[in-house]
Amino acid sequence: METVDSSSIPAKLRERLASAQKVLVLTGAGVSAESGVPTFRGGGNSAVWKGMPFDLISSAEMVERDLNAVWEWFDYRRDLLRDLKPNSAHEAIAIWQDRFSEFTLVTQNVDGLHQQAGSRDVVEVHGSIWRARCVACQEAIEIPRNGPRPNECQSCGERVRPDVVLFGELLPPGAFEYAAHMVANCEICFVVGTSALVYPAASLPEIAKANGALLCEVNSERTPLSNFCDFVLTGKAGELLPLLNSDL
Ligand code: OAD
Repeated sequence: METVDSSSIPAKLRERLASAQKVLVLTGAGVSAESGVPTFRGGGNSAVWKGMPFDLISSAEMVERDLNAVWEWFDYRRDLLRDLKPNSAHEAIAIWQDRFSEFTLVTQNVDGLHQQAGSRDVVEVHGSIWRARCVACQEAIEIPRNGPRPNECQSCGERVRPDVVLFGELLPPGAFEYAAHMVANCEICFVVGTSALVYPAASLPEIAKANGALLCEVNSERTPLSNFCDFVLTGKAGELLPLLNSDL
């Protein structure tokens, strides 16, 4: 891993950031890695849960077949997340909320750490582990951090499921469309801690570039997106992103 210091940030990027008004950030699992959340690709993640492949226990099919098993898996994941704290990458991004006149944060993460760091109006394209959703009327219900999770919908009494996008499911209605609209209008798009492999979220940087935005990747490794970017900052998001605020 390269050493990261203020010389890791190109002067041109600092200049563009200083005059930018419309900024969009797309984050993935890597932004939470330094908080202790395992990423999906690149080690540390268990591929099976109680003998069941990860993509089966987290699937639309399992919601139909055995909702209790799905909840057991998500209860386990919430337990792991409960005591984790946002890191300096989440905090640096939260500062941007008020730094730019039009700022949008789109995350593929379901862990809620951006909101814990103070980010507002986060576009959660893959849902949230801290919400349940009615299987019938689709009403969303917050899951308390330290209390029991709801078993049924308060409006219609039907069963609830995790409000997370599972394998075989579409994104929440409107979320991608909103993100695509905002990214088409931004001046700088940061792509932080994502392998940029999972569509449609991975198409957002393409839309940014096609509409003339400056594209900047922040990742501990190169990704399929790297060659397409104007700036590639290689290193930990928790070390690099605060450097972008060092002149504030
Ligand atoms: P991945 O696990 O695919 O990629 C994580 C990325 O973060 C990799 O490119 C790593 O190099 C990078 N990374 C790791 N630690 C980092 C650090 N400290 N700083 C910066 N970068 C770091 O995760 P996602 O791209 O988020 O979807 O995965 C996308 C989607 O795939 C997830 O949202 C999930 C999964 O299927 C659903 O659950 C619907």
